[in-house]
Amino acid sequence: MKGIVFTEFLTLVENKFGLDVADQIIEESNLESNGAYTSVGTYDFSEMLSLLSNLSALSKISVDDLLQIYAEHFFDVLLKSYPHFFKTHNDPIEFLSVVESHIHVEVLKIYPDAELPSFKVLEKTKDKLIMVYTSSRAMYTFGLGLMHKTFKHYNCKANILVEKIKEDGTQVKFSINKI
Ligand code: HEM
Repeated sequence: MKGIVFTEFLTLVENKFGLDVADQIIEESNLESNGAYTSVGTYDFSEMLSLLSNLSALSKISVDDLLQIYAEHFFDVLLKSYPHFFKTHNDPIEFLSVVESHIHVEVLKIYPDAELPSFKVLEKTKDKLIMVYTSSRAMYTFGLGLMHKTFKHYNCKANILVEKIKEDGTQVKFSINKI
């Protein structure tokens, strides 16, 4: 997993929960990296899982909810770092439908070792998008947070139905309806 995902996560933890909490979860996680992340480095995904589960135990917020909260912060980072991806689309359904075929393809050119999920489009109309998320990392609530922020960014709203295809969350169906 790319370092930027860790550095921004710890920034969010510091801002929302305080520096002490950030230090405590780093300590409790027994990280191989010792929590010394650089945004361009690559680290084991298990470190993110340890940080999330320790923060969850401390904050009493589920890992899934934490991932969704984190995604809302990460969206702002993406918007600032990669504004051109958002400028080439003027509609959230159009934008979300090309995450797999265009956006993450470009991300792989920038970070060849990025570990990205797949989003297969099953159905697309002007106001509706059905996609299947697949990833061994089961970060679908991170995807959900990014989707909600995408609609906010384009000044629209959506109902997003989340249905697990696999119980462990490694495959999930998103049914997105623009309101
Ligand atoms: C992960 C880039 C938009 C869903 C990531 C990662 C990067 C990235 C760098 C981390 C990869 C790693 O650590 O190895 C971008 C950029 C975007 C964008 C530049 C737009 C400008 C989106 C959107 C969605 C999405 C709109 C949701 C539909 C995800 C998910 C992950 C991820 C769920 C977590 C990894 C996983 O589940 O396997 N993305 N992304 N991304 N992205 Fe995107």
